[in-house]
Amino acid sequence: MEKAWDIEFQDVCMGYGETVVLEDISVTLPGGKISAVLGGSGGGKTTMLRHIIGLSRPMSGRVLLGGKDLFALPERDLRMIRRRMGVLFQDGALLGQLTVAENTGLPLTEHTKLPPGPIREMVLHKLSLVGLADFADYYPSELSGGMKKRAGLARALVTDPPLLLCDEPTSGLDPISAAQMDELLLDMKERFPDMTIVSVSHDLASVRAVADHVIVLRDKAIAYSGALEDLEGSDDPYLRRFLDRVPQGRAASDDPRLAEPEGIRRKIHQALGF
Ligand SMILES: Nc1ncnc2c1ncn2[C@@H]1O[C@H](COP(=O)(O)OP(=O)(O)OP(=O)(O)O)[C@@H](O)[C@H]1O
Ligand SMILES: [Mg+2]
Repeated sequence: MEKAWDIEFQDVCMGYGETVVLEDISVTLPGGKISAVLGGSGGGKTTMLRHIIGLSRPMSGRVLLGGKDLFALPERDLRMIRRRMGVLFQDGALLGQLTVAENTGLPLTEHTKLPPGPIREMVLHKLSLVGLADFADYYPSELSGGMKKRAGLARALVTDPPLLLCDEPTSGLDPISAAQMDELLLDMKERFPDMTIVSVSHDLASVRAVADHVIVLRDKAIAYSGALEDLEGSDDPYLRRFLDRVPQGRAASDDPRLAEPEGIRRKIHQALGF
């Protein structure tokens, strides 16, 4: 097995169209570790993941996986690298017309010629890891939000990928399921010590439970990159607010849209018969 892949961002600008979301980022997520990406909503966490997966191309700069620039690779090599990534999208991203088992097996049916028997066996194993073995033949619409998320994780794990990318694996889960999800990530890490895991999260309890390395995004930049313990001891006011869950406070604003549209509200309520 080759060495675990570092993920390196070198002077990367990321965004959409003309809008820059993250500006001139240089940071390394260490291979073989669990890194957590923290930051406020809309701060660019999912955007950062999209650039690791190669779904979005940097506006400038380079993203290197195991020293290789995704966008400088021939199409065939890019496909090979993508195959080595397990991705849990923020909403699970299950295909509605396929059963849970078919969804989970998708990376295997798409990329290999393995017969259905062994695929089904591996799928049931992964589904039992996430507590869904009894739901293999359900359709996604028959699952709860948290179950969809766990099915998404089973799919991300079905190939035992060297690189696992999770977007908010615990959001929307009750505290017990969230803790189980953390356990699963730690368990995967134990089974596959070379696995590099990146987990985007708002959930500090979860980050504290799983992360070796933490980066915090703020104002289009990296506000922190380092060990979790050092972050805990930080006296940076923003990081402290983040860690201690202190709200931003109500900014005084003259945006007229913040004022209650009283007249219109009355009309709407009348129209609704309230
Ligand atoms: N496909 C897209 N096209 C255009 N703009 C986008 C797109 N996806 C995200 N954005 C913008 O990029 C910014 C960062 O979004 P992103 O989804 O990366 O945030 P996030 O940190 O993941 O937030 P959350 O915690 O709410 O998931 C936002 O301002 C958003 O409007
Ligand atoms: Mg997001």
